[in-house]
Amino acid sequence: MKHTDIREVFENKELIGQNITVCGWVRTSRNSKSVAFIELNDGTTLKNLQIVIDKDGASEVNIPRVGTSLRIADGKVVASDKNGVEICVEPQKIEVLGECPTDYPLQKKGHTLEFLRTMPHLRGRTNTFNAVFRVRSVLAESIHTYFQNHNYVYVNTPLITGSDCEGAGEMFQVTTLGYNNDFKSEEDYCANDFFGRKAGLSVSGQLEGEMAAMAFGKIYTFGPSFRAENSNTPKHLAEFWHVEPEIAFAELPDVIAIAEDMLKFVIRRLLDTCPNEMQFFDARFEKGLIARLEELISHDFGIVTYTEAIKLLQESGEDFVYPVEWGCDLQTEHERYIAEKVFKKAVFVTDYPKEIKSFYMKQNPDGKTVAAVDLLVPGVGEIIGGSEREADYDKLIAEMKKRNMNLDLYTDYTDLRKFGSVPHGGFGLGFERLIMYVTGMQNIRDVTLFPRTVGSIR
Ligand code: 4AD
Ligand code: MG
Repeated sequence: MKHTDIREVFENKELIGQNITVCGWVRTSRNSKSVAFIELNDGTTLKNLQIVIDKDGASEVNIPRVGTSLRIADGKVVASDKNGVEICVEPQKIEVLGECPTDYPLQKKGHTLEFLRTMPHLRGRTNTFNAVFRVRSVLAESIHTYFQNHNYVYVNTPLITGSDCEGAGEMFQVTTLGYNNDFKSEEDYCANDFFGRKAGLSVSGQLEGEMAAMAFGKIYTFGPSFRAENSNTPKHLAEFWHVEPEIAFAELPDVIAIAEDMLKFVIRRLLDTCPNEMQFFDARFEKGLIARLEELISHDFGIVTYTEAIKLLQESGEDFVYPVEWGCDLQTEHERYIAEKVFKKAVFVTDYPKEIKSFYMKQNPDGKTVAAVDLLVPGVGEIIGGSEREADYDKLIAEMKKRNMNLDLYTDYTDLRKFGSVPHGGFGLGFERLIMYVTGMQNIRDVTLFPRTVGSIR
């Protein structure tokens, strides 16, 4: 269907005076004696295009209802003081593509986000979701651009995997067999299953990412990860998008520098590319959002060791729900206190106790901590988790044995430490958490089109 995007109508001043065709859905309409007005939106921009219908004495002009889809053929683009541009058209040039009856749920403005969550198939038609998903799209492009500009190879790691990367027991199982009593044991059951052994949906592409980095030097993945976490919180999804760079010849400080540089690049680009969307979020969801992001990208991020962070929490005088002592995992309330109250900006926390982190992290000389890093941000908490990896074969095997891991499942991975091992590291960025942080949206269900969470799928 030949037509002009409404975004183009606003941006291309050369169209003024020309006759064009536009399509879209009616956001509002208004009738008066000699003219009628329609606010039309086709999804390409937050702004509605005003259509002015000159009734020219024709009294029987049907004004389409909210939600109706239209094709406006051969309308004249005219400059307008109020709207920048608008389109003037005769009534007979308006073609209804699809009627929209009175039970259309988005007749009125101002629905709550909770209400809109009950209609994932329609909520994209609101300004909020239009802005969120344009930001999401622009961020994805900028992440690719950042890594492509820095010689990284984009790799696609498998979604179905035989090994658990994080080892936290959060894998969805992939099977074509129902378990039944004919099987002698779980082992027997798995042996008869599709892959001949237990398989699951990957929680992270890191292990395969390391293999690729040991060949291509620098790689990144950008795809879905799955977590069967029973966490019904505003920041957990069962299916989320994960950005995982992995870098050979890199130690923890290098990994931290790359994370900071990448985030500053994508946020700068977002502010430059999406001014209207960012102003919308600033006005509607978080006052001062743009200033906060500008401030963030013009200074160094904070950095603190886990051990220092524990001290800060203990000396805070705050009444935390979860008690704080060296060795505990940082809860969201702790993470937010450090980012929001102590540093008031994004902060890297490094060198966590090895017991609360994954098997693959590089063991520090103190024997107690590992070269791990989490990035904590105000409003959300952790958005990045990463580390330098243990590159020493013997140390890695010893740690895996200590954790009772089945070494046979990880021979490809441990082989990397036999054949030309190098210091290397990387991190995982939760894409939806980044979107929450840069838009001020407070629930991860509102930054993904069709959220999958515990007990909820549609
Ligand atoms: O901290 P995580 O578990 O680290 C890893 O998976 C490493 N293998 C990454 C690496 O070093 N390559 O997850 C990384 C990030 C978290 O910081 C968080 O932003 C996001 O992934 N994430 C989730 N996002 C939404 N819903 C969930 N259930 C998430 N679990 C993790
Ligand atoms: Mg983590």
